[in-house]
Formats: sequence, structure tokens, C-alpha cells
Amino acid sequence: MTTTTTTLDTLDDAARSLLFTEARTANTFSDIPVSDDELRGIWDLARWSPSLANSQPLRVLFVRTQEGRERLVTHMSEGNQAKTLTAPAVAVLAYDAEFHEHFPTVFPERGQMYRDNFAGMPAEALEGLAKYSAAIQTGVFLLAVRAHGLAAGPMGGFDGPAIDAEFFPGTTWRTHLVVNIGHPGVDPWFDRLPRIAADDAVSWA
Ligand SMILES: Cc1cc2nc3c(=O)[nH]c(=O)nc-3n(C[C@H](O)[C@H](O)[C@H](O)COP(=O)(O)O)c2cc1C
Repeated sequence: MTTTTTTLDTLDDAARSLLFTEARTANTFSDIPVSDDELRGIWDLARWSPSLANSQPLRVLFVRTQEGRERLVTHMSEGNQAKTLTAPAVAVLAYDAEFHEHFPTVFPERGQMYRDNFAGMPAEALEGLAKYSAAIQTGVFLLAVRAHGLAAGPMGGFDGPAIDAEFFPGTTWRTHLVVNIGHPGVDPWFDRLPRIAADDAVSWA
């Protein structure tokens, strides 16, 4: 505990543009490689995301090899296959359906209590909490990709149970998003779609 206040820094316009206003969802990728160090760096940023009681249910599989990519692509919807095959790196993002088992590590002061409380919840409610925090962590993961000067291509079009059976058999990891990662290729963006007006999305009290 501190008794003084802190003033936080702000991002400059270039960083805001890289992370937000100019950032796009990539559909093609150049052959510039993405290194394992860059992927480790992405996780090193993403891991600081907030999550419910610091539960951190997000799990990541980085698919690096051609063999791994081909195994993954058979479970992607047709429109997502070509870009996943050509992306230099692909992240399969999953949530751990039994994330509460880690409370003794991630919340030492109340670990046992939280583990027991969450273990007593109906499975559906527990899964909802896992998905919710993993989705928040996923947003931070996408920003971490952008912070490395890389483009992300998130995709929800795949057969999740099939990916789980392929890559996570016998575990409690459940795939919720696949993200292509790399430098943009030729004609990488669709036309930018409109964003909802602030008046329709934001209210004040
Ligand atoms: C949860 C989620 C699922 C998505 N699924 C797909 C998909 O299956 N295939 C695809 O080509 N794009 C997919 N997208 C990409 C979106 O269409 C894209 O992010 C959106 O149109 C905004 O594009 P922009 O970032 O270039 O403005 C998905 C994005 C998210 C966040």
C-alpha cells in the first residue's frame, strides 16, 4: 500500500494509431517471418491483462510448423483456410474450463477458498466465467500483437471441438478463437467497415 498518488503516462499519436485507429484485421500475409521471440514477447505483454479475480483462463497454442498448420486448417471453415495456411504464425486461443484449479497460484491469499467456491458452481456458469475473462484477455492479446508491429487476423470460423480433439486431447482447454499473425501481404484488408456511432453505443449518467 502507498500513501501517494501516481500520474500515468499516455500513448503518443503514433502508438494510438498502431494499436487502434489504423490497425486492421489482416487477410493476407507477406513471407517475412515472425520469430519465436516475437511470439514470446506478445505473450509477455498479453499476460498482464485483467481477469476475474486474476484467474487468467486464457491459454495459447502457437502453431509454427507447416505440419501443425495443415492439421489446424482441416478444422477451419473454408473461407479461413488459405489465410491460415499462409500466415507465418497462428495462435489458437483457448480457455481453461478448470481455470479455478490455479487460484492457489494466481491468488495466493484466497486461493483455496476461491478454488472451492468456483468448483461448487454449475459447469455452465463456470464456463461462462472462463469465456468472459478469456475474451477480455484475448482483446489484450490482439493489442499485444499490434504492439509488436504485426497484424492479427482473428477468426471464429472453425470446428472448436475438432481442434480441441486434435491439439488438446485429455485436457480442459477449449478453443474459442484462432488468430493469424504476421506482416500484411498483398491486398491485405477488406474495405474498412463502419464503426457504430458513439451516440448509439455510449450513454452518460
Ligand atoms: C470473434 C471474431 C471472429 C471473427 N471471425 C472471422 C472469421 O471467421 N473469418 C474472417 O475472415 N474474419 C473474422 N473476423 C474478423 C472481423 O471480420 C474483423 O475483425 C472486423 O470486420 C473488423 O475489421 P478491421 O479490424 O479490419 O476493421 C473475426 C473477428 C472476431 C473478433
